[in-house]
Amino acid sequence: MTQSVGVFVGSLRRGSYTRQVAHVLAELAPSSLSLEIIEIGQLPLYNPDLDGDDPPAAWTAFRSRVKALDALLFVTPEYNRSIPAPLKNALDVGSRPSKKSVWDGKPGAVVSVSPGAVGGFGAHHHLRQVLAHLNVSTLAQPEIYLGGVADLLDESGALVKDSTRAFLTKFLVTFAAWIERNPAPARS
Ligand code: FNR
Repeated sequence: MTQSVGVFVGSLRRGSYTRQVAHVLAELAPSSLSLEIIEIGQLPLYNPDLDGDDPPAAWTAFRSRVKALDALLFVTPEYNRSIPAPLKNALDVGSRPSKKSVWDGKPGAVVSVSPGAVGGFGAHHHLRQVLAHLNVSTLAQPEIYLGGVADLLDESGALVKDSTRAFLTKFLVTFAAWIERNPAPARS
């Protein structure tokens, strides 16, 4: 059975390296996984005052889309040693109303990306902290801190090195096995 994996990209920037990496991951994924980017840039900032009987349509559509997924893949840059605000906003939107979080119990994985040498380590672990609270079963290993990303991609967004391709392929195969072992709860 093909598992549907929602890919959440932390950058809204045109020409984002992170989005290019997300596309590479979708291409390298084993046939048991179907990766699709779930857009987050259109979500209004989370405000509990708006979350009554008639919440913003973009929140409702996003929650339904996430609820239908088998697994979650977060691909994020680092902003000031943490996750970019749009990604945190998407996590907050999906986490409410209370006890109706659409993240709950789903298997997930994190890839952090940076042109810098540290590979988004700070963002990566802030994100893992949030996912632990949201009861996402996050793959522990291999950890992917993709540093120096500008040198890993060519102008078309393709990977330059076979070693990066092999590393990311191994990660995706491990993630596929993780999803099999930690299935999302039945949807209600
Ligand atoms: C950054 N950048 C950055 N990089 C990093 O490695 N650690 C950091 O803490 C930060 N902080 C930061 C804050 C803000 C507000 C911006 C706009 C940028 C640089 C960042 O990694 C770089 O712009 C990447 O290219 C962003 O990813 P995308 O948009 O290419 O996917």
